[in-house]
Amino acid sequence: MKTGVIPEKPFVFVIFGATGDLTGRKLIPAIYALAYDNLLPENFRILAIGRRDYTSETFQNMMEEAVREYSQKCFMEKVWERVKNGITYINFDFVADKDGYFRLKHALDNLSETGIHNHLFYLAVAPGLFAPIVTELKKNGLLSEGNGWKRVIIEKPFGENLEKAAALNNILTDALPEERIYRIDHYLGKEMFQNILTLRFSNNIFEPLWNRFHIDHVQISIAETVGVGSRGGYYDNTGVLKDMVQNHMFQLLSIIAMEPPVKLDSDYIRNEKIRVIRALRPFPVSLSEREIVLGQYTGGIVNGEAVPGYLQEKNVAHGSKTPTFAALKLWIDNYRWQGVPFYLLTGKRLNRRNAEIVIQFREPLGRKLYNDYCDARSNILAFRIQPYEGFYFQINAKKPGNFYEMIQANMDYCQTTTYGNNSPEAYEKLILEAIRGNNSLFTGWDELNASWYYIEDLESKINRNSLHIHQYPAGSVGPEAAVRLIENDGRSWWNMYDSINFCKERGSINENI
Ligand SMILES: NC(=O)c1ccc[n+]([C@@H]2O[C@H](COP(=O)([O-])OP(=O)(O)OC[C@H]3O[C@@H](n4cnc5c(N)ncnc54)[C@H](OP(=O)(O)O)[C@@H]3O)[C@@H](O)[C@H]2O)c1
Repeated sequence: MKTGVIPEKPFVFVIFGATGDLTGRKLIPAIYALAYDNLLPENFRILAIGRRDYTSETFQNMMEEAVREYSQKCFMEKVWERVKNGITYINFDFVADKDGYFRLKHALDNLSETGIHNHLFYLAVAPGLFAPIVTELKKNGLLSEGNGWKRVIIEKPFGENLEKAAALNNILTDALPEERIYRIDHYLGKEMFQNILTLRFSNNIFEPLWNRFHIDHVQISIAETVGVGSRGGYYDNTGVLKDMVQNHMFQLLSIIAMEPPVKLDSDYIRNEKIRVIRALRPFPVSLSEREIVLGQYTGGIVNGEAVPGYLQEKNVAHGSKTPTFAALKLWIDNYRWQGVPFYLLTGKRLNRRNAEIVIQFREPLGRKLYNDYCDARSNILAFRIQPYEGFYFQINAKKPGNFYEMIQANMDYCQTTTYGNNSPEAYEKLILEAIRGNNSLFTGWDELNASWYYIEDLESKINRNSLHIHQYPAGSVGPEAAVRLIENDGRSWWNMYDSINFCKERGSINENI
């Protein structure tokens, strides 16, 4: 992993879709933050491309407002001037105006004459435009590496199903090799994602216990309070399994379950992650709610506000059966994880916003020793990915006093409290890694292929079994059946009711950040 290096070579950041939401909210603020932290080379430029008829100056002013509004860093005139002065706006239609690519080439050639040969193309556009843009880039010779590197960052979603993802991939790999394709999954840019690797592989106390002999089960949850918002049309054709499980949740699952890579390089890490996805046991042909529970939100109250149900959202089909919630039990059929269930839970319009992984160790062997008068519980190691970053390890301890009582002591590392809200935004980290040429925080095609295959097989079994879609009110914990899914196995979801309160009780959250 070529991390830790401050890039020195000049480069051009070429943004397709510069007038869109992502560019203003994430991309330009990320570039600003990198410049603020002195993580960019002395000489860099931004070519922002959109079809609206703006001048560079108008666009620069819009981006200044965006940086003031969305950047985590305070606004410093000097830093912004440096970014702003490098921005040129070019306008053309990516589909209808083929000459536009010629103008882009001309602009890049001019910059090349000043010594800037490296190009990072960012496709911040709807997925339907990925293939046409890459095809035109190739046709115009913009992806050939002469004196500088040429890389392409592709936004998500990468295809709507396996067939479309494979077709898109064929077009991409026809235009440039896999190692120069950077497919975004912003969960990989989250600080704690990398910290999981560090915790697992740089601490001798965990790896010997990281297997079926010591771990009872694993829980991975991503809970959202938001609904589908303006993405109703897209979401209705996608659903929770493709929108969250196939990508973000499988990434978290594979980083938790993978074998140690030989090196912390992208190929090695990706190979280990793929092996996990390939070892996932296919769901049984006759599915039941012992394995998977699906739900769809109805109207309710979230954070004190009344919100509509899924069926009332814009562009959602009348009577749609698209699930917005899923709880699943997965098994990884390999030597390390045989017999250890992985419970996944994710949904929209839930009572909380958090992403967390909980490793529950087996019951303490000495439990019988204490049973009569104490409550020795299984140890827990939990990674909090958002909104508060950190991890805690829960162990049994004696409560001070003249009686033999047991308590659960929490060894808690709250990164947010220790370092303030200073973790780089996911986009900041991902853009920096792409400039460095490190694609270990991006999704490889083999991983995507394997996870699409698995999710499509599951969806076809769901349809064949006409699995019930439970309704759950917005602002709730999800369908009751999801609680039963895990309770049938004698276990329960961790922190389902409010993990934030749980952290607050333990004083690990600084309310001011
Ligand atoms: N926004 C987010 O937070 C977010 C999060 C995760 C993933 N993404 C992904 O990022 C990508 C961009 O999302 P977004 O929210 O920024 O979308 P958006 O707001 O709809 O922006 C799309 C951009 O593409 C431009 N565009 C569309 N058709 C074009 C054409 N034929 N020629 C030239 N320009 C064209 C639009 O130009 P006009 O301004 O002229 O319409 C606009 O600049 C999508 O793939 C999305 O799934 C976004």
